[in-house]
Amino acid sequence: MNCTERMEKITIQTGNHYSSVLLGESISNLPAYLPHDRVIIVTDEKVNSLYGKYIDHYPVVIIGTGENAKNLETVGRVLSKFLEYEADRSTFILGFGGGIVCDVSGFAASVYMRGLHFGFVSSTLLSQVDASVGGKNGVNLMGYKNMVGVFRQPEFVLCDYALLRTLDRQEFVAGFAEIIKSAMIRDSALFDYFSRSVKDALQQDPEVIHHLVKGSVQIKASVVQTDERERGERRLLNFGHTFGHAIEKLTGMIHGEAIGIGMVMAARLSVKLGYLSSLQMNALVKVLRDTGLPTEAPVSEKEILMAMHKDKKKENDRIHFVLCDRIGSAFTKQLTFQEIENDIHDLC
Ligand SMILES: NC(=O)c1ccc[n+]([C@@H]2O[C@H](COP(=O)([O-])OP(=O)(O)OC[C@H]3O[C@@H](n4cnc5c(N)ncnc54)[C@H](O)[C@@H]3O)[C@@H](O)[C@H]2O)c1
Ligand SMILES: [Zn+2]
Repeated sequence: MNCTERMEKITIQTGNHYSSVLLGESISNLPAYLPHDRVIIVTDEKVNSLYGKYIDHYPVVIIGTGENAKNLETVGRVLSKFLEYEADRSTFILGFGGGIVCDVSGFAASVYMRGLHFGFVSSTLLSQVDASVGGKNGVNLMGYKNMVGVFRQPEFVLCDYALLRTLDRQEFVAGFAEIIKSAMIRDSALFDYFSRSVKDALQQDPEVIHHLVKGSVQIKASVVQTDERERGERRLLNFGHTFGHAIEKLTGMIHGEAIGIGMVMAARLSVKLGYLSSLQMNALVKVLRDTGLPTEAPVSEKEILMAMHKDKKKENDRIHFVLCDRIGSAFTKQLTFQEIENDIHDLC
């Protein structure tokens, strides 16, 4: 295997499966990780227009961009293309793109002929630190987030930081929301490091980006290895997501931005319930603002509550809600909608 000098590998073991996250690996080394034949690439229009030269010798399936493309219709089209390209159980699927391409391609690969091997070239900050890692592959149903999906691990995830240079500023900034989330639930040192280096991070200092991506992937790896199927600890990764998914659905905001607001609401709830200090909540708000992420919901509490009723993580009238008791430490608590409704006026 031909690897760049700076490349660092993190291995995620789930059962007897090993998934490699290749941090700082160059896209030009991609062929070293792929089988010699029977590869199909799934990517989106934008990534293909920027990086098509790295994949133009393989059959390519191109999907649309944006959250509206992450649905069963797109999956159906991708599966039809697999059939057209005569994919069989020996075919390897490579998803090349951000979280949406990873979710769609990982899901399509997982259900075609009951599951093909697949890997990702993760091309957004958000997908490098979160979406491409951990084996949750799913799509939206009727606009509700990730309602249909599977757990199935990729063979590898290649994270080339140079790809991030072509990202729109807003998309790049949104990726930091998931880094902040990981730090909030597990790693106060990562939170402090990010708070100190926001400026360099925004300027894509390679050392800072590497430190942040590595820190986040290590957290996700350790959580996923303990609880791949989200029966307990993995739920912590949903910090900010119960409110965030509702806001994303209601406003069409991009995922990372909605999660930033969702985290502030979850932190305020943690303060309200007596777990988190206001000082620590303010530190979260400050770091989000310094990063350039929104912190206030642009929709009413009532609308957020209604959208939350469809959250797939609820059980009857209860939600496993992720709360923080300090920066770097989170836990879940079952809350009823009534309990959230009582407090939500103070959260927005
Ligand atoms: N499965 C999981 O565990 C998991 C975890 C977190 C988030 N997600 C999902 O990930 C999705 C968000 O992912 P995202 O933020 O990566 O968004 P995205 O996939 O929509 O990508 C954002 C935009 O950037 C473009 N893009 C991608 N790479 C680029 C590059 N290198 N240069 C220029 N443009 C590029 C894309 O074409 C797209 O327009 C959401 O649907 C979210 O639910 C999934
Ligand atoms: Zn997320």
